[in-house]
Amino acid sequence: MDHATQVDVIERWLQMHRSGATQLADDVLEIDTSVYTSADWFAREQQALFREGAVVACLTADVREPGDFVTLDSGGVPIVIVRDDEGQLGAFVNACRHRATQVVHGCGQAKNFACPFHNWTYARDGRLLGQPRSQGGFASLSKDTLGLVALPVAEAHGLVFVRPGGGDTPDVDAIIGAEISRDLDRFDLAGYHVWDRIQREWQCNWKLILDTFTESYHVFALHGASVGPDYPGHVMIYDEFGPHLRIPVPRASILEFDHRPQEEWDLLAHATVQYHLAPNTMVNHTIDHFILWRFEPVGADRTVAEMTMYTPEPRAAHDANGEWAKSMEAWFDLHDAITRDEDYPESERIQRVLGSGRVPTTVLGRNEGAVQHFHRAVRAAVGG
Ligand code: FES
Ligand SMILES: [Fe+2]
Repeated sequence: MDHATQVDVIERWLQMHRSGATQLADDVLEIDTSVYTSADWFAREQQALFREGAVVACLTADVREPGDFVTLDSGGVPIVIVRDDEGQLGAFVNACRHRATQVVHGCGQAKNFACPFHNWTYARDGRLLGQPRSQGGFASLSKDTLGLVALPVAEAHGLVFVRPGGGDTPDVDAIIGAEISRDLDRFDLAGYHVWDRIQREWQCNWKLILDTFTESYHVFALHGASVGPDYPGHVMIYDEFGPHLRIPVPRASILEFDHRPQEEWDLLAHATVQYHLAPNTMVNHTIDHFILWRFEPVGADRTVAEMTMYTPEPRAAHDANGEWAKSMEAWFDLHDAITRDEDYPESERIQRVLGSGRVPTTVLGRNEGAVQHFHRAVRAAVGG
């Protein structure tokens, strides 16, 4: 994010704060709560957003070296992303061509992939290399036709997009647009390194989690005993880029810029800048690190939340017991604790209430315009 954009954001935010205002949408939006509970609506989202659409699979940092791989699920498709020996990034259906079990789990480094069931072995570029101890049982089939099934994948600006249902290669520039691309390049997102990752399943709809991420209005209340006092979150500004959002969340310390010349204004040192990359990821910059949150819908009322933290320098470049490592560890724990103990349990409680069938609608206020935008974008993509 360049300095001119930072100044623009701070100026808009300070103006809102001074006048006791916040960025307002045109109207209140009523949400039919069946979008959180209906199996039919869930199936339509899975098809339109998570299979036919392109989704963020991971960051460049997750698969920087040949043999680095990550696995994910999107729209019910198990996927493995892996960098091959030539540095090309591949995406494959994570299914053995023998009897279709998942070839690999989790993430890490692999020389090749040996299926756990009967050890058919695949190269980093998806080719079938061997069928050990099959005693000629598959001799009538050509190995060339039994590689992992490839999926369209593209990498740019530090992001990796995949299209789980097959079809066109994702055009990252067209998907995220010029402004978000510029911001991410300015941050040098592609140069970051994985710090740590954690994954948990929650009993709530994926949109309830994103509803919380796309407004900071709740911060003073829900996080009142933790980070709430640090963030005047009820004053909110955001920018819409297609279905995506940029939401800077300034800390109270930004108020000091009111009395200082614009040349000194530094948004990044005093804010978390959140990018909601539709449909289900958040890329957040906080002071000296990035977080990628991916929310994998498992069912209408089940979501896997994965949080990965990235640092500008690799862990190994610093003393493991030094100040920098301790500070990064503390950041990771803080992001994890706030969402694990405060945000996600609230979404689970909401899901239980909605599951009663006694709450047909909820309302998003004019002060929750970014959440409104998220819901409108989902509806536009799914139709109806
Ligand atoms: S299912 Fe993979 S080797 Fe048999
Ligand atoms: Fe929150």
